Amino acid sequence: MEITFAIVTCSDTRSLAEDSAGAALESLIQDRGWRVASHVVVPDDRTTIAQAIVEADTPEVDVILTCGGTGLSLRDVTPEATRDVCDREVPGIAEGMRAYSLAITNRAMLSRAIAAQRGTTLVINLPGSEKAARENWAGVEGVLEHAVGMMAGGGH
Ligand code: MTE
Repeated sequence: MEITFAIVTCSDTRSLAEDSAGAALESLIQDRGWRVASHVVVPDDRTTIAQAIVEADTPEVDVILTCGGTGLSLRDVTPEATRDVCDREVPGIAEGMRAYSLAITNRAMLSRAIAAQRGTTLVINLPGSEKAARENWAGVEGVLEHAVGMMAGGGH
């Protein structure tokens, strides 16, 4: 199954050229034979992130990955922005990524990431460092085909 992704990196300090986590996610997606439709970097501002998620959610996009802004700094507002523009959460995805990551580092507890449905699009928050983004991708990528199939009405 082909899955089409959009990447929204949330960072006050990074440009698109400096977004090594987003670039790593692009490569990992392409390694699976999937497609990246768009990749943007936006500042850590709740309204701006929410709008970027809405703009990334074109009809062809199945999964939007946000990258960064899930920690405890007061500038970290990606989960809140995600909730602002989504319909319902899929708690098991975020729980699964944290469980996978806790085997690597106890700092996984410091991620407030959520996953949520926006219509038939799945939005998943990933952390912003390249290492952490790669590890969380490894924890979640295996479930994406089934998730996207179900959202498309495919059942099990
Ligand atoms: N998850 C994995 N697998 N590996 C990591 O190194 N870092 C944690 C956590 N999740 C980490 C991880 C840390 S230190 C933080 S602060 C949170 O992700 C949030 O990161 P963010 O603010 O870049 O989104």
